[in-house]
Amino acid sequence: MSLKNVRLEVMQFLEKDVDALIEKYLIPIETIWQPTDFLPDSESPKFFDEVKEIRELAKDLPYDFWVVLVGDMITEEALPTYESWLMDVEGVGQIERNGWSKWVRHWTGEENRHGDVLNKYLYLSGRVNMREIEKTTQHLIADGFDIGTDRDPYKNFVYTSFQELATYISHNRVAKLAKERGNKQLSKMCRIISGDEMRHHNAYSEFVERIFAVDPSQMMMAFHYMMKQKITMPAHFLRESGGQISSAFEEFSNTAQRIGVYTSMDYIDILEKLLKRWEIEKVTGLTDEAEKARDYLIKLPSRMTRIAERMKVPENSFEFKWVEPAKL
Ligand SMILES: [Fe+2]
Ligand SMILES: [Fe+2]
Repeated sequence: MSLKNVRLEVMQFLEKDVDALIEKYLIPIETIWQPTDFLPDSESPKFFDEVKEIRELAKDLPYDFWVVLVGDMITEEALPTYESWLMDVEGVGQIERNGWSKWVRHWTGEENRHGDVLNKYLYLSGRVNMREIEKTTQHLIADGFDIGTDRDPYKNFVYTSFQELATYISHNRVAKLAKERGNKQLSKMCRIISGDEMRHHNAYSEFVERIFAVDPSQMMMAFHYMMKQKITMPAHFLRESGGQISSAFEEFSNTAQRIGVYTSMDYIDILEKLLKRWEIEKVTGLTDEAEKARDYLIKLPSRMTRIAERMKVPENSFEFKWVEPAKL
């Protein structure tokens, strides 16, 4: 049987449990938080006072912080790219409305609230150039992404397990920075987003765990493939208006490194967590090729640490069109 057919069979086999997994990892729509829970109520007479407070508190946050928050928001707002990508993964049946496509739709519904709440907050903050941000978002959706997972569910679930943890880390760190500057409301908003990301990370990690249980060698090969080619960030095509594709991503990522929101050490930490979570050292029944892939993966964190220690992040802030330094 071809590798593709085995994957399809595995996806079909696991599909019967997806409903239970949705119940385990996602929160019913009627009870989950909504963006308005963290924003001024525009029907209330107190609305303008609350907006005023948001704008006052926003004054205490520095330039690099806004760049990172904007970049995080744009990454969330490019959700159409991620949903359409996942809907096209082998075994995800949009037309048949199977369990996997239900997962993708429900996951998307939860994720959609992230960009929504951050977008509204940024609009009210008065600290950013919304039109420039909107243009970047439109560019990013138009440019799509290229994450090297193909339509392979194994590779895609490695990618999403990794990415959900990465977004947990960055939203959580932004929450901490906001709290340190006395901005409790923004901190709460980012913390609750990070909570969603953690649940999603746990779900995707369980999908991979279940695949390891039935197809260990091919799951190992897929993990190896993804880590060898490196996990690219979903917003790696980021550009500002008038810029070339990808031209803004490195500066955004340098800014996130500089303020400690997401660093190359975090990348290594995530890899280590995945190795531990999937008990990579204990997986049995591997082919010779998969054994070699496992060896590579186990040694990878220390190899990457040596490289990361030598890396230097530029100290100067890049001037993004999204945040006007004049307003600082
Ligand atoms: Fe998200
Ligand atoms: Fe997420």
